[in-house]
Amino acid sequence: MSDDFFPVPSEWAASALLDRDGRKADYQRSIQESDAYWLERAKRLDWHVFPTKTNESSFNEADFGVKWFADGMLNVSANCIDRHLAERGDQTAIIWEPDSPDAEPRRYTYAQVHEQVCRFANVLKNAGARKGDRITVYLPMIPEAAFALLACARIGAIHSVVFGGFSPEALAGRIIDCDSTLVITADEGCRAGRQVPLKANVDAALKECPSVDKVVVVQATGGAVTMQESRDLWLHEEAAKVSADCAPEPMNAEDPLFILYTSGSTGKPKGVLHTTGGYLLWASLTHELCFDYRPGDIYWCAADIGWVTGHSYIVYGPLANGATTLMYEGVPNYPTPSRIWEVVDRHQVQTIFTAPTALRALMKEGDEFVTKTSRKSLRLLGTVGEPINPEAWRWYHHVVGEDRCPIIDTWWQTETGAAMIAPMPGATDLKPGSATLPMPGVVPQIVDSEGKVLDGAAEGNLVIAQSWPGQMRTVWGDHERFFQTYFTTFPGKYTTGDGARRDADGYYWITGRVDDVINVSGHRMGTAEVESALVLHEAVAEAAVVGFPHDIKGQGIYAYVTLNAHEEPTDELRKTLVAWVRTEIGPIATPDVIQFAPGLPKTRSGKIMRRILRKIAEGEVSAQALGDTSTLADPSVVDNLVANRQG
Ligand code: WTA
Repeated sequence: MSDDFFPVPSEWAASALLDRDGRKADYQRSIQESDAYWLERAKRLDWHVFPTKTNESSFNEADFGVKWFADGMLNVSANCIDRHLAERGDQTAIIWEPDSPDAEPRRYTYAQVHEQVCRFANVLKNAGARKGDRITVYLPMIPEAAFALLACARIGAIHSVVFGGFSPEALAGRIIDCDSTLVITADEGCRAGRQVPLKANVDAALKECPSVDKVVVVQATGGAVTMQESRDLWLHEEAAKVSADCAPEPMNAEDPLFILYTSGSTGKPKGVLHTTGGYLLWASLTHELCFDYRPGDIYWCAADIGWVTGHSYIVYGPLANGATTLMYEGVPNYPTPSRIWEVVDRHQVQTIFTAPTALRALMKEGDEFVTKTSRKSLRLLGTVGEPINPEAWRWYHHVVGEDRCPIIDTWWQTETGAAMIAPMPGATDLKPGSATLPMPGVVPQIVDSEGKVLDGAAEGNLVIAQSWPGQMRTVWGDHERFFQTYFTTFPGKYTTGDGARRDADGYYWITGRVDDVINVSGHRMGTAEVESALVLHEAVAEAAVVGFPHDIKGQGIYAYVTLNAHEEPTDELRKTLVAWVRTEIGPIATPDVIQFAPGLPKTRSGKIMRRILRKIAEGEVSAQALGDTSTLADPSVVDNLVANRQG
């Protein structure tokens, strides 16, 4: 960890929305006069009925629940579009940059987004969608992805976006879990010059999903697809037949807005549910504060809409703030490692927001891919998704930002809706690798393994002591799991699953997950999910998966596999198993290493000792590193694992 210090640049200190003292005072007020503070902040949104209530949440079992602004009524799509029409109907809302630098970018004004979204909403209605229905969205990074989300929000349907890189199996599981009746997809996606057969994947998934009766298909590449009569509809054909107006459905602040599946340490991915009022307020407020957003800025979050970052910081936060948001279809290093910076120059981007894994990959290619571009428009550099190592931070700051742009390292989670701990450019002195200080209303604590709250400089488990507006409300279909997962380890507090250190200045340094979740290229994955996929294969008796440090991805996937008695541990089988996991989950879950293990280290009660597996995967195989193995049922398995270590 670094002790470097980057004070707020003087130009920022002079002109920022909040300066050092301003941030401090705002934070204090958010805690000490919480009700008044949040009712005032709520005015940033347009309400059909303005709320009189704010936080009515409890983290205790007796009266457990998360609730904000519960008597307010509003519509998210009206907040992201309609209310801007009078003032900035002709301003660009969305800039779309295609995969290939030779293809034409597209631009949509707020007025055009309004028409697109209204037509889309009417198509969904005609296809039978109603308020409260679940709609699964499986789309590439095209403008229609933003329109789809806003169209769902407009009619009060609950969207569940599934990342376009997930396999048909993974897609089917997510459709079934929330009983979607409708799927929105495209003919194909296009990334790094390659076509992704999205519609064909949907066709395969739907063989297992009887609840779905309509599929709306966006024509994105024009690639050939099979349309199933009476089930499949082309968006462009249907949109031409319907009205360009659709009144937004008035929603209660606590009506669901979306479900987004995310990985935990146990079991299947959970459907994280976010609701209307608190979520939108949180996304919009944090977008403004972290990025000091000013009208006219061109803002680019280079995430995928399949993750929460895409929801909150490509679509909902920026559009609620009347921003110009850039959507990029492709990947950072195609066709060359200069691509991101060329896009910055092409559209004169002020703020770019990306993940450390992308920065590390680009850093490895050499500075000249960056320095040959101008980047003069840049004012702010954001990062999210995993801890940023100080080396990558400095490179981002010095090479990309020419020491001129503050780095906004935002710590948060799918569950938290939007940023929780992050700098504000005019208010926060920076330390490379630290996400710095809590956002308004966020009360982080560091607790030891017994739950004792540690004061001052300390390291331990990161928990949040009270609710904030953007907190998830439940796990779809399993409220008990919501409570059990997040509120029982340290009763009365929200458990983040992350470890953190707080330094003497009160700055937070996230040290990574303390549970069985790994973070591969900023994609969150439960080791249990990869294990379940592996044991589905007929050759596999048992599997244990851990993360290990990886230069580019942050963490790689290391799988220990015990084969059934008659199976041969060949390289061929290793390849088959890697391909198997890709088919079961998707390429993001590709194991980096598979080690065949005749036995796994287990306690006498049969529990796998992952601590030992992690050490071996990290290459830490000394007796000292491995620690006490005497409690194992068979300590000799460790020798075999060490002797056959891969990588
Ligand atoms: C990690 C992504 C360190 C963390 C928004 C968290 C981070 C998990 C940071 C959530 C950061 C995210 N510094 N770690 N700035 N941002 N993480 O749900 O472990 O995909 O718990 O949300 O990513 O991942 P998720």
